[in-house]
Amino acid sequence: MSSVLKDKHIIIGITGSIAAYKAAILIRLLVKSGAEVKVIMTPMAKQFITPLTIATLAKSPILVDFYNPENGDWNSHVDLGMWADLYLIAPASANTIGKMANGIADNLLLTTYLSAKCPVLVAPAMDLDMYAHPANLKNLETLKSYGNRIVEPASGELASGLIGKGRMEEPENIVKAVEDFFFQPAELSGKHFLVTAGPTFEPIDPVRFIGNWSSGKMGYAIAEELAKRGAKVSLVSGPTNISSTHPNITKTDVVSAEEMYQKCIDIYPNTHGAVMCAAVADYRPDSYSNVKIKRKSNDLSINLTPNKDIAAELGKIKKQEQLLVGFALETNDEVQNSAKKLQSKNLDFIVLNSLRDKGAGFNHDTNKISIIFKDGKAEHFDLKSKANVAKDIVDQIVRSTKS
Ligand code: CTP
Repeated sequence: MSSVLKDKHIIIGITGSIAAYKAAILIRLLVKSGAEVKVIMTPMAKQFITPLTIATLAKSPILVDFYNPENGDWNSHVDLGMWADLYLIAPASANTIGKMANGIADNLLLTTYLSAKCPVLVAPAMDLDMYAHPANLKNLETLKSYGNRIVEPASGELASGLIGKGRMEEPENIVKAVEDFFFQPAELSGKHFLVTAGPTFEPIDPVRFIGNWSSGKMGYAIAEELAKRGAKVSLVSGPTNISSTHPNITKTDVVSAEEMYQKCIDIYPNTHGAVMCAAVADYRPDSYSNVKIKRKSNDLSINLTPNKDIAAELGKIKKQEQLLVGFALETNDEVQNSAKKLQSKNLDFIVLNSLRDKGAGFNHDTNKISIIFKDGKAEHFDLKSKANVAKDIVDQIVRSTKS
């Protein structure tokens, strides 16, 4: 199933043309691709193909009149125009094209055209001489000047037996034109990002470690959002309970800060940027006991030695065209502290979470962030789900990514 058309709302307008039979195939293909379809037929179109056939394929009753004379039920052209993501008029006769170009509104198909807010795609169908007539060509040019798109008719044998340009384009090709219309190239395709996520665990002995409460949710949400927008993502993750499923994400599991550092330093030089979301332990025990440390009656102290600051190390090797984004989790003097980190780690911007904000930080499904920039400017966001926070951060990454 074509995902581009899934759940898209498409109005199909059918006019009086022998090519109306092809509209049946067109509707079947669009519905099969997941689109939701409503069909408006001109009174003349009903002479070429039955409403029963079209309604069955469209999975909804067709619309012809402004109202149902039996019960007065009103077919609002304004509502239809608002509902649609696209209005596809196929086949479009010379008569309908002429009326569209001149603002004539004497049936539901045309009133809907005039009130539609959505883009309009027109697939003309007519005899070669009608098509080539300067009046028709002028009308098509007028429609284009209104921003409507034309699916050019094909050349070939026509209903009249003549051969030339005017045949409505084949349904498969019209569907292709509809797909092309909806297809948005992913804004980060061709880009590669490194994302760190989760905590690091610094082993003390075979059963104990120093760790922190990071759940990894924020980093995974960012990896997911980058991947959705087409980027290739190398996710380097400390121990978490989350799995990532997007095909663009390659995940490497690590445990300690030293392991995370080794992976990042290998990956970063070949990326367009890195988002340092992991809560890296700043210290590790300076020695590791191969055997479980036994309980004794006296005090036990563990000497700690500093870990490498991964973000700062990447900041040292950062190239002009690369991006480096950091996080700061602060409890006090939030903006000043994060601005200092931004400078010392050579970051492009830093995302601040304050533990003073309710619903922000570790283990929550929500977060409240501010983005601090090199020039000291800050942008503050509301409390949102981590998925929506990830969108805000990736929007900023898109704006800051050097092409
Ligand atoms: N960071 C890192 N490696 C470390 C420590 C931090 O990559 N060893 C990154 C984090 O992923 C984050 C940023 O640096 O993007 C800031 O982390 P944070 O723990 O807030 O800051 P620290 O520099 O460790 O400062 P402090 O703990 O003193 O607040």
